[in-house]
Amino acid sequence: MTTAFDPSLALKPGGTAVITGAASGFGRELALLCAAAGLQLVLADVDEAGLAQTVALTGLPPAAVLAQPCNVADAGEVDRLAARAHERFGAVHLLFNNAGVIAAGPSWKATPQDWQWVFGVNVMGVAHGIRSFVPGMLAQGEPAWVVNTASVAGLVCPPELGVYAASKHAVVALSECLHHELAGSGQPVGVSVLCPAYVDTGIADAFRHRPAELAERNPDDAAFLARTKVAMQAGRLSARDVAQRTLDGVREGRFYILSHRSAAAGVESRLRAFLAGGAPDNPLAGVG
Ligand SMILES: NC(=O)c1ccc[n+]([C@@H]2O[C@H](COP(=O)([O-])OP(=O)(O)OC[C@H]3O[C@@H](n4cnc5c(N)ncnc54)[C@H](O)[C@@H]3O)[C@@H](O)[C@H]2O)c1
Repeated sequence: MTTAFDPSLALKPGGTAVITGAASGFGRELALLCAAAGLQLVLADVDEAGLAQTVALTGLPPAAVLAQPCNVADAGEVDRLAARAHERFGAVHLLFNNAGVIAAGPSWKATPQDWQWVFGVNVMGVAHGIRSFVPGMLAQGEPAWVVNTASVAGLVCPPELGVYAASKHAVVALSECLHHELAGSGQPVGVSVLCPAYVDTGIADAFRHRPAELAERNPDDAAFLARTKVAMQAGRLSARDVAQRTLDGVREGRFYILSHRSAAAGVESRLRAFLAGGAPDNPLAGVG
């Protein structure tokens, strides 16, 4: 992709990266790679113990890292995260809207609480991150980059993942709109959307952080996610590999960061069905 500025400058040593969902999985690995690249870190998550472990793993001195408990579904908490990041480090050069959760099972059995929880974290979490951080990134006049974590399920539509796929399609759509808006802003700020496939992280156990008031889940959720976990554990790429590909994608200014290139075949098949006026193939046929 051609941008009016060098996107790799957003990763300059001494800059600041904000990472949501930093207590586990991709968020933790992004934190470790950003620390190794010489960036200061603002790490956010609902899991305070996991956040403290990530901080320890970075090996950064306390002055270079801010760990902030934060529920990204809450607009006020994300505003406070942005205010604290600004107070501590000034400019923000990288924003990873990465926190996410999953719920599964046939769409007709999805509960209102499934929708509220998954959309609260996956969609509103990204929307709040954009609203709370991007105005400052545009005003600071320094190269900066946003990475929103969607999924291959934001590009194709697997059975039993209606709630999750709908949320991740929303993240892809929001990211595409943001891309056009930033390109027209005249400021050195860009955006990528990360679309990973199966990787062994904590996501299949996302229920662990589900708020008690939203606990009523699709009765088939646990069984589907247990099967998904097996497929994730069999995955070829690690969370570290995906984090590395993400940072490489930012350096190259790529908009769509597809960690598993093989996933492109599913996207192509969906578009072919659309152009032919047919029904889509099942993207999970033969998986797991
Ligand atoms: N692992 C995969 O196979 C895969 C594939 C595609 C997309 N993703 C996406 O990657 C992102 C990261 O997930 P992961 O796979 O590393 O899983 P993970 O469970 O290991 O990490 C997700 C982190 O988000 C945190 N989190 C959950 N709810 C939160 C909230 N309300 N506010 C703040 N933090 C919250 C969790 O505590 C956890 O630390 C998610 O957006 C997920 O949807 C994962």
